[in-house]
Amino acid sequence: MSKGTFYITTPIYYPSDKLHIGHAYCTVATDTIARYKRMCGYDVMFLTGTDEHGQKIEEKAKAKGVSPKQFVDDIVEGKGGILDLWKLMNISNDRFIRTTDDYHVKSIQEIFKKMYEKGDIYKGSYKGKYCTPCESFWTESQLVDGKCPDCGREVRDAEEEAYFFRLSKYADRVQALLETPGFLEPASRVNEMINNFIKPGLEDLCVSRTTFTWGVPVTFDPGHVVYVWVDALSNYITALGYANDKYDDFQKYWPAVHMVGKEIVRFHSIIWPAMLMSLELPMPNKVYGHGWLLMDGGKMSKSKGNVVDPYLLSERYGVDSLRYFLMREFPLGSDGNFSNEALINRINSDLANDFGNLVSRTVAMVLKYFEGGTLPAERIPDPIDDELVSMARGLRDVYEQNMENFAPQTALIETFKVISRANKYIDETAPWILAKDEANKTRLATVMYNLLETIRITATLLQPFMPQSCEKTFAQIGAGKEDRAWDNAGTFGILPADVTVQKGETLFPRIDLEKELAALEELSEKKEAPETPAIPTVTIDEFAKVRMTVCKVLECENVKKSDKLLKFKLDDGSGTPRQIFSGIAKFYKPEELIGKTVVACTNLPPRKMMGDESNGMLLSAEKDGKLNLLMLDDSVPAGSVIC
Ligand code: MSP
Repeated sequence: MSKGTFYITTPIYYPSDKLHIGHAYCTVATDTIARYKRMCGYDVMFLTGTDEHGQKIEEKAKAKGVSPKQFVDDIVEGKGGILDLWKLMNISNDRFIRTTDDYHVKSIQEIFKKMYEKGDIYKGSYKGKYCTPCESFWTESQLVDGKCPDCGREVRDAEEEAYFFRLSKYADRVQALLETPGFLEPASRVNEMINNFIKPGLEDLCVSRTTFTWGVPVTFDPGHVVYVWVDALSNYITALGYANDKYDDFQKYWPAVHMVGKEIVRFHSIIWPAMLMSLELPMPNKVYGHGWLLMDGGKMSKSKGNVVDPYLLSERYGVDSLRYFLMREFPLGSDGNFSNEALINRINSDLANDFGNLVSRTVAMVLKYFEGGTLPAERIPDPIDDELVSMARGLRDVYEQNMENFAPQTALIETFKVISRANKYIDETAPWILAKDEANKTRLATVMYNLLETIRITATLLQPFMPQSCEKTFAQIGAGKEDRAWDNAGTFGILPADVTVQKGETLFPRIDLEKELAALEELSEKKEAPETPAIPTVTIDEFAKVRMTVCKVLECENVKKSDKLLKFKLDDGSGTPRQIFSGIAKFYKPEELIGKTVVACTNLPPRKMMGDESNGMLLSAEKDGKLNLLMLDDSVPAGSVIC
């Protein structure tokens, strides 16, 4: 029976570049919690998506020479794009929203109008610093050394008509919400919000732009597009069907738990609640601000060239290993340093040595000591079993407490304490010695059963982190559907007494640290090498240097000892015939070309060919090894310049 509904969201990602490991971290954390809640029996709605409007995307698309929609389509839906990445990483989202989806766009227009009609949005003028080349407004504090933070050029004072949201009106209610225990976590972020944003006084927020067009138009004033954060934040309700007919889940699932990175906590814990207050909707259940994954102590960014590719790591080490590492290595609320070395060490120590080894040793021993891998049903307990059994039995409660507190790292640490204890139990009970004497068979079966049960319980609790590997583990230890259920994870003795195990693949092969680090280094060097475009671009000035002149063919003849070359005398309009050799003898007979109007590049330096001088080059079109001399209509006079 369902324990009720649980709605959880990731931020919607900017499809301005490929996503990196930091983005994957945020999505994996959310996915782990969503899977955990489903396992506990909740009816879960897990939403993720993409935030596709705004000036930055518009500019990137322009630079690439495609429309903004084509640009985002490629990053979201294209090969190796965001949808592919989430599929690869086994993300179990129930819905995926794109802010360019029609239903969302219409809902935003509705939401904006509602707030306007309520009097919470009004028209005013936006004063700021304007960078003309970038067409961007900046606030004083955004400037870098008083200059445009994007291009570094001078900015000027400017004013533009814009709509404003009465954020100031909601300051007291927002502060009370921030102070509500459990609303914003970790709790340390509450003071940060109150001291940095509420105390200095909340100013009304500019919520429309007229300097670019890639956004949702304001219906009642179409020169304006809705500020991208108003558009983006609303995704959490439009994706449930608020202000649209696409879905009908708003009543069922709202309010949500929002998982977000620390730099966007302000938008989610101040602006978003104020918007919801204006719309007279219930507040989110929780905003959880997780920390950043850092590289060499700094934030990952494409421009710094220090981004880590989750695609590559998932394919190289397995999705589950990467997911496990992300959740085990870093406490969710704080920043952490990413390194390949930490990743490989963690996989080797926890997954290959501890968990993988426990599973493979146990299964291998059952197969070796018991006919067909089936345990006999009788048991002989021993006090040496007690600690392991009680740790395994008590694990679910500690785990639950930590998962409910958004502390997946601690939940994993606790789980691995039990796994380590089981490995120690193998050493203590020394099954290989018990196996030497047939009289110990029942005791040996008891030891094996205790190990299988410990594996069953730990694998059940590891499912939200490593779904595929746990599935394989269950198959190996002979655990049926019910045996892997949350309800059975707090009980010891669920597997059938005469359980049968199956041999399976090694779950987590050991990785050679040194070799792998070298291989990764090489891969990243290859990646960093600047890509040589297949066709290099030229500037207009470079292009203008090339002089192409229309010429009439005065004479044309074969060249002795060359089956490639034809020798031309051309009228280039200068009054002096120009001599050019051209390698087109295989394609034309000389007499076919006399009198034709052709094009020659006439400012190449002279070149010696077959002991004679060639002064230029005739232009031809080539395809599949076949040449066609470029010929113009004969009405074009000799000496005309191609421009
Ligand atoms: N589009 C906005 C969110 C709108 S939500 C209504 C946005 N997008 S983003 O693509 O820049 O970032 C999405 C999420 O990825 C944020 O939560 C951000 O914190 C997270 N991360 C980006 N880099 C990160 C790390 N290096 N480490 C951890 N998370 C990071 O902001």
